[in-house]
Amino acid sequence: MRFTVNDQPFDEHVGAGESLLVLLRRLGFKGVKNGCDNGDCGACAVLVDGRAITSCNYPAPAADGKRILTVEGLASEGVLHPLQNAFLDTGAVQCGFCTPGMLLSAAALLNSDPHPSEADVRAALRGNLCRCTGYVKPIEAVQLAAARMREVTDD
Ligand code: FES
Ligand code: FES
Repeated sequence: MRFTVNDQPFDEHVGAGESLLVLLRRLGFKGVKNGCDNGDCGACAVLVDGRAITSCNYPAPAADGKRILTVEGLASEGVLHPLQNAFLDTGAVQCGFCTPGMLLSAAALLNSDPHPSEADVRAALRGNLCRCTGYVKPIEAVQLAAARMREVTDD
């Protein structure tokens, strides 16, 4: 089946029972984390055609023809995405295991809503569990990134 990951085309044989998480890690995208393998923690979140999904319970064959974005594709030409900078600047990363999934859930939110309220951010990150940060700093980070992205687009 054919699909793209971070704009790179792939033509892969995929097992019927393989999850998108297993496929992506097999292809070397190790930023996709396996926290629970059960759809509960959000560590494996990626974007499929712009929509955040948990890749552990997404059948790999369903990604045929789709555009996949993983955390490895967030930075562009060596420049971190505003969300990545904001997570660093606010101290929203501790062990970092949840961070790729959080970044992608947040990216899906900001792609569809450049002006999210705190409640919107909380709702977007609801499926991303974090055992380290207490959630306050990641929420601050998403709001900071949104503000910085608006400044750039308003210029
Ligand atoms: S590993 Fe997919 S939701 Fe936890
Ligand atoms: S930073 Fe450790 S799980 Fe979130």
